[in-house]
Amino acid sequence: MVKVCEDVYWVGAVDWSERDFHNFETHRGLTYNSYLVTGEKTALIDGVKHKFVQEHVRKVGEIVDLKNLDYLIVNHVEPDHSSGVPEIVKKANPTVVCSRRGKEGLEYYYGCEGWDFKVVRTGDRIDLGNLTLTFIETPMLHWPDSMMTWLEERKVLFSMDGFGQHIASSERFDDELGVDEAVRWAKVYYANILMPFSKNFLRTLEKMKELKVNPEIIAPSHGVIWRNPDRIIREYVRWANFESEKKAVIVYDTMWHSTEKLAMAIAEGIASKGVRVRVFHVRRDAWADIMAEILDAKAICIGSPTMHGTVFPPVAGFLTYMKGLRPKNKIATAFSSYGWGVGAYEELMEFLRDMDFEVTEGIKVRYRPNEEELEVARNLGERVGEMVASSVS
Ligand code: FEO
Repeated sequence: MVKVCEDVYWVGAVDWSERDFHNFETHRGLTYNSYLVTGEKTALIDGVKHKFVQEHVRKVGEIVDLKNLDYLIVNHVEPDHSSGVPEIVKKANPTVVCSRRGKEGLEYYYGCEGWDFKVVRTGDRIDLGNLTLTFIETPMLHWPDSMMTWLEERKVLFSMDGFGQHIASSERFDDELGVDEAVRWAKVYYANILMPFSKNFLRTLEKMKELKVNPEIIAPSHGVIWRNPDRIIREYVRWANFESEKKAVIVYDTMWHSTEKLAMAIAEGIASKGVRVRVFHVRRDAWADIMAEILDAKAICIGSPTMHGTVFPPVAGFLTYMKGLRPKNKIATAFSSYGWGVGAYEELMEFLRDMDFEVTEGIKVRYRPNEEELEVARNLGERVGEMVASSVS
């Protein structure tokens, strides 16, 4: 239990050992944040994953008698936050506050027989006596049920998954972990969870302005709490607008190192133009990290050998992942090696065009690239590098 500010406590759980969050590699674990607001009435903001519910109950019980809990705010139905909720309802029988889609989701997951629901919409308020909670619906940020809760008197925004990071730490605040470090993890989170909903975030920001929500503290449901809200809001605006850096990302896989040789030659060519390059192997590197680099890269180069006449399966898997996350504003190209059928190259190019990237002609080589072909790959890298350099000031 940690005091966030007057009348607000962190009562969440730190999951040091979890390494997979529905295919998002969580190298450093994660947290499930829950907050207790102790006005004249009390409100618990969100639950935790079920395996931590006893710890959750104990932490809340150190501050208030659970039987006196008035409200349980469910900002989001995804089970990492809601699977512990039925246990809290059973023990405390609070009024469960959520959006209309939130109620629907909770009923699908848990039945909710006999629960006392209060459905809220944007701008609705709950009076805790000396404190007020205001709700902001944020549909598809990142589920239809999602909402945020604003504690006006303490200027705390409980932002749910928004502004979250998947990192387990003993520190609870951004300035304790290090603000740059917190931003680094927030970027990985944004790229892998929120990127497809970038427009929704920008709309939420407008809504916050209309409602005069000007937080001094942003308390997300994962990771550390922001005591520097301006910094993370600024970063979010950059990410949501797909602002690019002078950077290119190369993602590849290889069977007998031919595609890999092309990747390295392209990287050399790009770097020779003063553009930063990051090279990733789809089976050796975490996809979550690759997506974080793609988020603000200006160019993507995808490489795959041809196997059974088509794209090498690990590359195809990564492309499916990337497609769902919908990165925008990119220059793209493909490179491939093949033996007797050129399927992979054509399929990669078609995929990149379908993503609405600015696609430039790539390279395909038979069996193993010779010196001449490696030179062509270096030239391709130089061309990509020039395109990046001229489009990012
Ligand atoms: Fe942290 Fe969308 O759940």
